[in-house]
Amino acid sequence: MENIKLNDGNKIPAVGFGVFLIENNGPTYDAVKIALKAGYRHIDTAAAYFNESDVGKAIKDSGISREEIFVTSKIWLQDHGYEAAKKAVDTSLKNLGLDYMDLYLIHQPYGDVLGTWKALEEAKKIGKIKSIGVSNMSPKIYSEFVSKFETLPAVNQVECNPIFQQKKLRELMKKDNVKLEAWYPLGHGDKKLLENPAILEMAKKYKKNAGQIILRFENQEGFIILPKSTNPERIAGNINIFDFELSQDEMEIFRKMDTGKGVHDPEAPGVAENLLKNFKVHD
Ligand code: A2P
Repeated sequence: MENIKLNDGNKIPAVGFGVFLIENNGPTYDAVKIALKAGYRHIDTAAAYFNESDVGKAIKDSGISREEIFVTSKIWLQDHGYEAAKKAVDTSLKNLGLDYMDLYLIHQPYGDVLGTWKALEEAKKIGKIKSIGVSNMSPKIYSEFVSKFETLPAVNQVECNPIFQQKKLRELMKKDNVKLEAWYPLGHGDKKLLENPAILEMAKKYKKNAGQIILRFENQEGFIILPKSTNPERIAGNINIFDFELSQDEMEIFRKMDTGKGVHDPEAPGVAENLLKNFKVHD
C-alpha cells in the first residue's frame, strides 16, 4: 500500500476503508474484517457513524498489530468546545477500545471550532491522537478557521470525486501542505459516473472496473481516498489500483468532468442545525 506523508511528518495509507452508513453490531465488524484481510490498513469511522466499537473489535480480532493499522475517527458537533471535546476524545478511544487514534477530525466546522481544535491539539501533545485534521471545510470556512489555528490540520476530508474536484479548495490547501481526503470518491455509486463511456473505455484498456479507474485518477491527483463498499469483491478491488497508471491525456479527460458542485454544501443555511437534529451521539 502506498503511503502519503502528512505535514506533521506522519504517514497515512493512500486508500482507506470508509464505514459511513454501515451498521454497528455486525455489519461494520464483518466489513472491516474483510477489508483488513484484503489488505487495507486504514479505516475511517466517526462518532456520528455509531460504529466505532465494531471497528475496534474487528481490528482487535484481526490479529494484525495495532501499529500497522491507521485508524481515523471524528468528533461530532454536539461535542464542540474545549471541555466537551476533551471528553469526546476519550469517548471515541473507549468506543474503539484503543489507546490512541492515528487521526481525529473535526467532523463538521460549526460552533466552537477553535475551542475544539485547542482540545485536539492538546490530545495530540499527550499522545492520544497522532494527527489532527478537519472535515467539510469549504474554501471560505477553511480560510476563516485555519488562519486562527495554532497548528495546521494534517488533512481536510471533503466530498471529492470527478464530478466535484474541489479545485479552489485544493489551491488553498496546497499552500499549507494540507492533504485532501475524499469522501464519496465514487460519487456515492453515481450510475452516470460509473457508466461514463470514457471511463468504461479506460476500464477495458486496463482490465479494471470503472470504480477502480476513478479511484486511480484520484490517487494520481494526490487525494487520500475512502471508497465504501459492503461487497467483498469490490472491497478488495478498490485497493487493487496500483498496478497501472493513467496517462496525462486520460487524467485530462477526468479533469474536464468537474462540474464544481457536489451534493453537500457546507455553507448552506441551516446545515449545522439539521446535522445536529439528525445525528445525536449522546443525550
Ligand atoms: P457496494 O457496497 O454494493 O459495493 P462512495 O465510496 O463514493 O460513497 O460509493 C459507495 C457506493 O459505490 C456504494 O453504493 C458501493 O456499492 C458502490 N461501489 C463501491 N465500489 C465500487 C466499484 N468499484 N464499482 C462500482 N460501484 C462501487
